[in-house]
Amino acid sequence: MEDWYYHGEHVFDGATYEGDFRPEDLKCIRDELEFKKDDIVVATYPKAGTTWMQEIVWLLQHGPGSADTREQSFEELFPFLEFYAEEKSGLERIEEISEPRLIKTHLSTGFYQRQLSGESPCPKFIVVLREPKDLLVSFYKFHLMYGPPWKFTRDWDYFFEMFREKRLNFGDYFDHALSWWKYRDHPNVLIVKYEDMKKDACGSIKAVADYLNIPTTDTLIQTIAHESSFQSMKARGTEKVSSIMAKQMDQGEDFFRAGKVGSWKDTFTDEQSQYVQDLTASKFNKEGICFD
Ligand code: A3P
Repeated sequence: MEDWYYHGEHVFDGATYEGDFRPEDLKCIRDELEFKKDDIVVATYPKAGTTWMQEIVWLLQHGPGSADTREQSFEELFPFLEFYAEEKSGLERIEEISEPRLIKTHLSTGFYQRQLSGESPCPKFIVVLREPKDLLVSFYKFHLMYGPPWKFTRDWDYFFEMFREKRLNFGDYFDHALSWWKYRDHPNVLIVKYEDMKKDACGSIKAVADYLNIPTTDTLIQTIAHESSFQSMKARGTEKVSSIMAKQMDQGEDFFRAGKVGSWKDTFTDEQSQYVQDLTASKFNKEGICFD
């Protein structure tokens, strides 16, 4: 079978990126970008629960009801820092939003060394981690949702080999997550797990609010949990979070796919499952990252 490559694929600092993540933007983020100290950055590997966390942060900042009433999608309001689309980069988009700026990134800590080391103003990073098998299945299904020229035209086994060879967009999930985990005690890094958000949405929302110094009441937290639930976000539709993604996806595809824990079982073979289980034990569990 012929190799498959992402549209405009390139390698930057050892990780693979699709062409919409331009080398010049990645370089600028790594070497030049200056954050404002009250910037809030949701930093995740794709499919870890980025959009869910963005919605929680949005609702905490703007109050209940604000997801229903916002007229623009997150591209304009909560820009994706390294994404170049519709002739505008995320770097340009973040210059156009009001403060405190809300920003999304899928980059690992290699890009934020100046901030994390105290050399340059450090935003408040919120990292979401997800159990690797669920994340991989979600990422695979996401690859299938796109129309040309992004469309993934291979099967799950091929995708899994890309994962094994560390050829997936944004690099290897384990390396990425560990890069953030190393900073788990940093005052400007909060790490939240998707599985904990599923188990106790209110507890996770409260932890985010406390980290951002946003006063809350039980009623406010419960309302935000409801308005950021899978059902509520799915009902509002993909367009509310990403108008660009809505345009790039094949008709009938829904970004809000399953929103569950444990749905990997229908997709993995036993060998693939064992492979990821071993990696999870040796790379995550050993470092204290557990998903129970
Ligand atoms: P599934 O494909 O397993 O359904 P990201 O935003 O990082 O791309 O992650 C997308 C994943 O999070 C998808 O997982 C999506 O359905 C899920 N998701 C999005 N909003 C959610 C919510 N409010 N609650 C639970 N899962 C959510």
